[in-house]
Amino acid sequence: MKKIKILNKNFTNPISCLTAYSPSIANLLDGQIDLVLVGDSLGSTLYGMKNTQTVTMDMMKKHGAAVNKVIKKSLKVLDMPYKTYNTKVDAYKNAKILLNYCKPDLLKLEINNKRLAILKYLVSKKINLISHIGVTPQSYKSFNKIKILGKTNKEKDNLLKLAKESEKYGAKAVLLECITAKTAKLITENISIPTIGIGASKYCNGQVLVFDDLINLGINTKKPKFVKNYLDFNTLACNAIKKYHREVKHKKFPSIRFTYN
Ligand code: KIV
Repeated sequence: MKKIKILNKNFTNPISCLTAYSPSIANLLDGQIDLVLVGDSLGSTLYGMKNTQTVTMDMMKKHGAAVNKVIKKSLKVLDMPYKTYNTKVDAYKNAKILLNYCKPDLLKLEINNKRLAILKYLVSKKINLISHIGVTPQSYKSFNKIKILGKTNKEKDNLLKLAKESEKYGAKAVLLECITAKTAKLITENISIPTIGIGASKYCNGQVLVFDDLINLGINTKKPKFVKNYLDFNTLACNAIKKYHREVKHKKFPSIRFTYN
């Protein structure tokens, strides 16, 4: 698997990663972005769910397979959904299903102290994994309750230990979500696999954002501090919709150009 070399820490450029849940977005990202993540954030972003806990294997399979079809150049990462990797047996069975069906290069698991054994087990079965630590959304019923981690010494030490053990057990990268810059820097400097951050400062070896946040697509007006809108799609789309509506009302659309004779 040559593409996975991108996750070598000596790779000179920082790693870029964005989410994609559909072929059209995946097609835009392929070859432009290092990693394409079919994240379980699709639960809230696409399906309007309150959290990611109700995302199913079936949803990840369908979106993962659709994205897989169009990604030829970028590295493909797929999230394992909530409660599908609680035991070694379940984790292996479900990982195999996702790998066979969606053919990602790596799977991503939300890791805490208890789940390190699962990570170690899957790696022993030759599965490429990203260890997602810090704020792990699958542990939250409501995203409003999310609190930035790494501020206290206890949190910092625990996160550093988790990152080091993720590396020791064979994770290919560690994803850091919503942690302080100081702690992200400490982790990045103390492990030899890359760190990919979301709300985890410039000190990570790479960055990830949800695509919909990148383009400001969505109904949530309250955005986390780490979200940067590179495009205001909501406004652009709103203007297009209004224009279409007006043209239909005034019988300007469809004109001759859009009519079969
Ligand atoms: O599910 C997801 O999209 C993620 C990113 C937010 C990192 O895990």
